[in-house]
Amino acid sequence: MLEFRDVTVTLGGVRVLRDVSFLINTSDTVALIGANGAGKTTTLRSIMGFTHMTGEIRFLREDITKLPPAKRPGLGIGYAAEDRRLFSAFTVEENILMPAQVARLTAQETTRRLGRVYTILPELKEMAGRPAGSVSGGQGKMVALGRALMIGTRLIMLDEPFQGLAPALARRYAEALRTLRDHDPDVTLIITESNPGLLRRFADRALVVERGEMREGSLAEDAPDPLHPASPATTP
Ligand SMILES: Nc1ncnc2c1ncn2[C@@H]1O[C@H](COP(=O)(O)OP(=O)(O)O)[C@@H](O)[C@H]1O
Ligand SMILES: [Mg+2]
Repeated sequence: MLEFRDVTVTLGGVRVLRDVSFLINTSDTVALIGANGAGKTTTLRSIMGFTHMTGEIRFLREDITKLPPAKRPGLGIGYAAEDRRLFSAFTVEENILMPAQVARLTAQETTRRLGRVYTILPELKEMAGRPAGSVSGGQGKMVALGRALMIGTRLIMLDEPFQGLAPALARRYAEALRTLRDHDPDVTLIITESNPGLLRRFADRALVVERGEMREGSLAEDAPDPLHPASPATTP
């Protein structure tokens, strides 16, 4: 459903991605793994049309390389950026609804999708009327997930969603992703992470970006999963 063909991205004179090619199938859950600065965010930004690139990106067999960024969410692509970017003066619900307005969804479709967001993330319904500026950083990540769900009917991209989340919220976030999977088995998910252990419980596949190149990776059975430690912490 998503294909890169020889994608090269140069930022500030540095080739951040070099001839990257890969194919992601519908309903895959892909962990995009790489150290800090490896090019994970650049990969997602390229899918959103925010980078200058050469090569080709295909989505549902169509070449979208030249499609303006503003038109890409309308294809059913939801994106929760690393830096969340909530509009603090608007309420939580207004933030969630924003991409629906940008994509000019009908009122009926908007209501239907908001219902889907609240089914998967019921805590957002409780926060709906609060100004987005008043929620904690971790809750903000949930709001950003809700916003991505609103528009991401086909592909949802989450950039380091677990980064900086307290363990309880991280577990809750992972649970919400599993609910999403159950609710919407056909949606394709790309989740970036520097720690592969964190995603091996729900990713089917890993793509590893390293020195500008992308390769198929393993989900490192031996890497510890920080959310589910093998042995419970013992008290001395
Ligand atoms: N706007 C930019 N100008 C120049 N270099 C950039 C820019 N954005 C990112 N980079 C560089 O590109 C590389 C990849 O960045 P990024 O995709 O953000 O990595 P990751 O998300 O894996 O941490 C890094 O070396 C970073 O310093
Ligand atoms: Mg990044």
